[in-house]
Amino acid sequence: MNRNQHVLTVVTAAGFGILVWIGTVHPQAGQRGIPGTESGLATFQTRCSVCHNNPVPGAPPASAIREMTPERIYDSLATGSMQKYVEGLSDIQKRRVAEFMSGRPVGSAKVGDAKNMPNQCRNNAALPNPANGAAWNGWGVDIANTRFQQAQAAGLTAAQVPRLKLKWAFGYPAGESANGQPTVAGGRVFAGGDNGFVYSLDAATGCVYWSFENGSIVRNALTIGPITGQGSARYAAYFGDGQANVFALDAQNGRLLWKTKVDPHFVARITAGVKLYNGKLFVPVSSSEEFSSGHRDYPCCTSRGSVVALDANTGKQIWKTWVVPDEPKPYKTQSNGVILYKPAGGAVWNSPTIDPVRNAVYFGTGDATTAPSPRTTDGVMAVNINTGELLWSYQAHENDVFMGGCTLPTRGDACPSPNGPDLDIGNSPILKTLPNGKRVLITGTKTGEVFGLDPDNNGALVFRVSATGVPATGARGAGSIVWGGAVDDRHVYYGVSGIGLTALRPASGERVWVFTPPAPAGGRGGLLGAAPTAIPGVVFEGASNGMLYAVSAADGKQLWEFNTAQEFETVNKVPAHGGAITSTGAVIAGGMVFVGSGYAISNGASGGNVLLAFGID
Ligand code: HEC
Repeated sequence: MNRNQHVLTVVTAAGFGILVWIGTVHPQAGQRGIPGTESGLATFQTRCSVCHNNPVPGAPPASAIREMTPERIYDSLATGSMQKYVEGLSDIQKRRVAEFMSGRPVGSAKVGDAKNMPNQCRNNAALPNPANGAAWNGWGVDIANTRFQQAQAAGLTAAQVPRLKLKWAFGYPAGESANGQPTVAGGRVFAGGDNGFVYSLDAATGCVYWSFENGSIVRNALTIGPITGQGSARYAAYFGDGQANVFALDAQNGRLLWKTKVDPHFVARITAGVKLYNGKLFVPVSSSEEFSSGHRDYPCCTSRGSVVALDANTGKQIWKTWVVPDEPKPYKTQSNGVILYKPAGGAVWNSPTIDPVRNAVYFGTGDATTAPSPRTTDGVMAVNINTGELLWSYQAHENDVFMGGCTLPTRGDACPSPNGPDLDIGNSPILKTLPNGKRVLITGTKTGEVFGLDPDNNGALVFRVSATGVPATGARGAGSIVWGGAVDDRHVYYGVSGIGLTALRPASGERVWVFTPPAPAGGRGGLLGAAPTAIPGVVFEGASNGMLYAVSAADGKQLWEFNTAQEFETVNKVPAHGGAITSTGAVIAGGMVFVGSGYAISNGASGGNVLLAFGID
């Protein structure tokens, strides 16, 4: 076909499907550390896109390949009809492109089903109302995203913490990244990994009630709540996945009740937990366009972040609010004929915060991918809970336009100049009522700052401080806040990566203490970047080297530690190991602590496929 046809078809193909699961590390211990986060995506762009983002006669569009299992795609490349087109690709490149397209690791579809597991629960008694009893339900334990578990629900005191012992381990079959945060409700654990399945386990024993094959990575916490009008189902498990689908499953047995795609864009995805409030689900939508868009053959940029409100009973959309309000329009044709679009960007990487007093929904927003960056990017947005209308916004960083792939020779004209500094607000704003009755909305930044806004005064800035001990420079340094914080009546806690776990006053941001673990003998100290978790008197924090720490909330002194970066014998007999704890944190309910270990999303991080449960004898 001639160049012009090619151009046209590339442009019309912008709605087709490439994907989002970005695997790095193979689960076998011997293969850990293989780099290549970008390789599946790059291989797709250079070796497949030409036929599969264009209507080459008979070639399925990328969106159709995206629906296939990684096994089928891999087989097609290795031994099937695609062999003739993929000459020169190594076996690992074939795997990576198959995994990139499908959104989960090769081998997972065959082995993930709970039906094949030896640890079946003997019976499946009626699930009690998840609103009663000890629960850690969803990302932030409550709609304010405090990540603070009250004493009664925690069932674990500061004095007991040093006696915590591993009770059971569950292995995600063929998993490479166990960074979905577990949810605990009704005596059960609900969790998804990167293998295309979500699971319901018994909290006490780890026996398995059911699995559901959603088909791609679940990088967030499920939410359990009531559902009506769906036959016998009383409680649903709600979650979003790597293909921007939201699911409601019968929490009792894993049966699909409804499924809604909240964004048809081929790189849209859901990486953070949905929030359930008064029969509505609030869904954060992000995108991997920020990673893929630097390539010359890619018609950048057309993907925008949003928050979508759905009717929890039916999955029907009530409203959708874009972070970048204007629709992308063509603005330039590159010398290779590929048309470029703007504006775009503003992914929402965090679970929204609900404010019933103001009838508001708050969320952090990501950077722009095209210049100029709208005022709603890299900040906090407040929208009306019933209509999604913008109430106010606070921008933490101006003029931050970023995309990956722009350092490569294949970089296109869409690459911003300057590129970055990449300061997405990735963490949920924490809504805290202070002991004096005043309320503050607290958020962290990748520059290591913490800021407090007044939700009762249109988001007016109350404080903005550096949590790193040195003034912020406006760039990412050793101290960076990405994933989230926790708050109790004394402090707000953030993992400030290289700086350590930091406690600040929630009213002023004044720094009180920092916990930096000593480097283990002969090893490297980990970065403390994961979202912390608090119970009365204790804060839990995970590290990039797999350590899980518990420290005193009063002064940051260490109370307990456990190394999750090791091999574990699992209840379901799946070979499993831990790795980095970098994003999601521990959850605590009913006297037990649960954590997923293994984070292989970014280059250099250490993958893993294990869910660990700790308790007291
Ligand atoms: C030169 C064009 C061309 C290239 C390059 C190409 N494909 Fe294909 N592909 C096709 C056509 C045509 C079909 C449908 C007919 C067939 O199966 O042979 C197809 C079919 C497929 C199928 C479906 C096979 C099945 O089992 O149904 C998959 C999966 C696939 N391609 C993946 C890829 C991947 C991944 C790459 C890049 C590594 C790639 N293709 C590169 C043209 C191409």
